[in-house]
Amino acid sequence: MGKNGTTAFRSDASAGAVLAMKTLEMKIPPAATGSYPIYISHCLLNHYKTWFKPNWFQKRLIIITDDTVRSYYGVTLLKKLRQENLAVDLFSFPAGEASKNYHTKQMLEEKMLSTYCDRETLLLALGGGVVGDITGFIAATYMRGISYVHLPTSFLAMVDSSIGGKTSIDMPQGKNLIGAFWQPEAVIIDIACLETLPQIHLINGVVEALKTFLIYDKSSFHYLQDNLEKFLSKNNDVLMYVLQKALTIKINIVNQDEKEKNIRKVLNFGHTMGHAIEKVNNFNILHGFAVGVGILVESKISELCGVLKAEEYRMIENFLSQLHITPSFLKAFSLDDILQATRIDKKNAHGKVKYILLKEIGKIHTDAQQVVHEVSDKIVVKALKMLSEVNDARQ
Ligand SMILES: NC(=O)c1ccc[n+]([C@@H]2O[C@H](COP(=O)([O-])OP(=O)(O)OC[C@H]3O[C@@H](n4cnc5c(N)ncnc54)[C@H](O)[C@@H]3O)[C@@H](O)[C@H]2O)c1
Repeated sequence: MGKNGTTAFRSDASAGAVLAMKTLEMKIPPAATGSYPIYISHCLLNHYKTWFKPNWFQKRLIIITDDTVRSYYGVTLLKKLRQENLAVDLFSFPAGEASKNYHTKQMLEEKMLSTYCDRETLLLALGGGVVGDITGFIAATYMRGISYVHLPTSFLAMVDSSIGGKTSIDMPQGKNLIGAFWQPEAVIIDIACLETLPQIHLINGVVEALKTFLIYDKSSFHYLQDNLEKFLSKNNDVLMYVLQKALTIKINIVNQDEKEKNIRKVLNFGHTMGHAIEKVNNFNILHGFAVGVGILVESKISELCGVLKAEEYRMIENFLSQLHITPSFLKAFSLDDILQATRIDKKNAHGKVKYILLKEIGKIHTDAQQVVHEVSDKIVVKALKMLSEVNDARQ
C-alpha cells in the first residue's frame, strides 16, 4: 500500500534483468491476514526463482491443475522443480466448471492424505478460476488450513478470481455456495500463459475487467474501448495495462472490506443476474459471458430505476456487442426461471434480491452509504423482457 492507502506498484529491477518485461509487485493487506505480493510479468513460470520465497524450497509442494493446463504448463513446471530436487507432485482433474464440486475436492484431498501431505505442504494452484477456487478451498480446510499460491493461467483468473481470497465449490443449487475466505501466500501472474488461451476465454476474462471499470474507472473503460482490437490480439502492453488497472481497483476495494460486509459487494455488479443465467443454463455458459449478459440486464435495471442515463446504457451495450455478448442470449430461457434463479444469491437478505446499480460509467449508485439496493420484481421483469425482445441484427 502507498502512504495514503492506495495500492503501490513497484518495479523489481533484479527480476527485470532476467525477464523480458518489468515485474510489478502489489501488496494487499486484508486486516486479518497480513499482506502478500502479486507479481505480474512475462515468463514467470520459467523463472520461478525470481518469485519463490526462500522457505518454499524446503517445503513439500503440490501443483494442483486441470488436465488442459497440466499439458501446457503443469508437466514443464513439475520437471523444472524436480530438476532442482524439490519435493513436488502434481494432481490434476478434468478441465471445466463441472469439476468445481465436492467430488473433485474430496478426490484431491484423498490424494494429499495418501501421499502424506501435512500442514507444511504448499499448494500451487496452476490454472483458471476453477483450479484457483477449488485449490484455495482445499487450502482453507486441509488440516484446518495450509498455505497456497495462485498461478493463474486464464485471463479471468489473472484479473479477478486469484485476487481477494474467495474460495469455493458449486452446488446443484447454485454457484460458489460452499467456500471460505482464505488468502494465498502470493499471486504469480505470467502473461506468457495467455499465448495458449483460446480467444473465447480471453473474452470471458475481460468482462470482469470491464465490470471493474464500469463501477470505478471511466478512463480505463475508454482505454479498453479504444484498444479492444489490440487486447484481443494479446498485445502485451494492453494486457498489462488492463490487468494493472483492474487489479488495483479490486485490491483497493478488498482492502476496505475483505469479508464483503458492504463495499466489496460492488464487485458483484452484473453477478446477481450473471449467476442466475449460469444456473438456468445448467452452468453450460462461460462465467464471463453470463456476467456480460448480467451487466446488460443490471445496467438496464439501473436505467429503469432512473439512475443510469439511456446513452450510457447504449455505450455498455455497444461495447459488449463487440465481444459478441448481446441481449439475444436471453431469448432461449424462460424469464420467470431467470427471476427465480436470482433468489439464491449470497447478497440477498431475508429473501429479498439485492442489486448493485450503476449511476454512470465509472460510478455506482449509493443510498445512505449502502451499495446494494432492493429492486422490485416488476422492474427486473421489465428489464429482462425489454432485452429479450431486442432484435439483434449483429447476431
Ligand atoms: N474466487 C473469485 O473471486 C472468483 C471470481 C470470478 C470467477 N470465479 C470463478 O472462476 C471460474 C471461471 O474461471 P475460468 O474462466 O478461468 O475457468 P476455467 O478454470 O474453467 O478455465 C477456462 C478454460 O481455460 C483453460 N485454460 C486455462 N488457462 C489456459 C491457458 N493458459 N491456455 C490454454 N487453456 C487454458 C482451462 O483448462 C479451462 O478449460 C468460475 O468457477 C467462477 O465462479 C471466482
